[in-house]
Amino acid sequence: MADKSRTLYIEGMGCPKCEGKVKAALEAIDGVKKVVVSRIAGQADVTCADTVADEDLKAAVAQFENYTFTGMDDGNVRPESMERITTKEQADAFIEAQVDLLQKQIGDGGVLLALSGGVDSSVVAALLIKAIGKQLTCIHVNHGLMRKGESQQVIDVFEKQLGANLIYIDATDRFLDKLSGVTDPETKRKIIGGEFIDVFDEEAAKLSGIGFLGQGTIYPDILESKDGIKAHHNVGGLPEEVKLELVEPVKLLFKDEVRVVGAALGLPDDMVNRQPFPGPGLGVRCPGAITRDRLEAVRESDAILREEFAKNGLSGKVWQYFTVVPDFKSTGIKNGKRTFDWPCIVRAINTTDVMEVTVEHFAPEFIDHLVQRIITEVPGINRVLIDYTPKPPATVEYE
Ligand code: XMP
Repeated sequence: MADKSRTLYIEGMGCPKCEGKVKAALEAIDGVKKVVVSRIAGQADVTCADTVADEDLKAAVAQFENYTFTGMDDGNVRPESMERITTKEQADAFIEAQVDLLQKQIGDGGVLLALSGGVDSSVVAALLIKAIGKQLTCIHVNHGLMRKGESQQVIDVFEKQLGANLIYIDATDRFLDKLSGVTDPETKRKIIGGEFIDVFDEEAAKLSGIGFLGQGTIYPDILESKDGIKAHHNVGGLPEEVKLELVEPVKLLFKDEVRVVGAALGLPDDMVNRQPFPGPGLGVRCPGAITRDRLEAVRESDAILREEFAKNGLSGKVWQYFTVVPDFKSTGIKNGKRTFDWPCIVRAINTTDVMEVTVEHFAPEFIDHLVQRIITEVPGINRVLIDYTPKPPATVEYE
């Protein structure tokens, strides 16, 4: 029978002397293959065969009064005693423990990770690089719907600074060709998601020695998938015959904790504190059939908005902000000549749960400056509109 990795929850961790004794006692139990005691409050990882009885573990742990065995499960339950990570010190302790756990889980195996450049996959990549270095292979698929500079930042940070094994795939043409003429929002989403999995699978098939799949699963993903709200595995499309063991080092963390860990790992501030960005990327901000010129107008206007937010200290304060370039044109005048160009819509919202959102109201001078920059710097735009509609009735994204 294959070994299973299970998590043994023990309360009252923290004494290195007792830790060693608990480890030795557990390792003496028949069927326990490996014991890794983590310094995270309340959590220790035990890799054991199915045959190990809970009672044996309980009895072993009970020998040491500082520890209380509170059960064993699939490792997907955050212990109540686990402190919220808010400080650099807590993050460092988490990183140290996870590096140890990852090294024990992976051994000399190879790990594959889809690195989007988002917070969760970036933090997982940085953790894995620290733990296993070149045994990690990251694949970054640029679907052509990334924001300006985003793919370059992934290359700069992970390949150049952290020395990661990074496979960069520029699949822009492949995605945009498939999306050409497609107007239905859900069909667009399906094409983008399906194509992403195909590209990832094709690249993964070229590699050898991969036994593990890294995932940026975080605790809300697990809670939502338990509640049946959504499936939490963001890369679920590997061929059936490829049986990869999951590596999910931040699966018990909330988003704010992932950010603190990312900062402690030395990731750049704008990567760690990145605003939410939808999987289909700028594709949902270029409503209707995506064309390269209108997509470029979305990307350029979005870059200007982000720059102005950063300059005015708004980046960390506003939850999400972006531009949309709808598929209609209106008349205008530029350099004394008639123009017939698109409008650019600016949307900035605040929320806690994304079920309901309020809008961020801009200062008049900020709007004037932003409008001026967008209409002069972005080809194809002759008008800027501000969307001050809350959710409901409007959703955050336009499609
Ligand atoms: P809506 O438009 O539903 O957006 O009010 C709520 C939040 O979800 C994000 N969003 C998505 N994220 N794939 C994603 O990964 C998607 O297809 C998608 N659609 C919306 C949106 O950016 C907002 O933060």
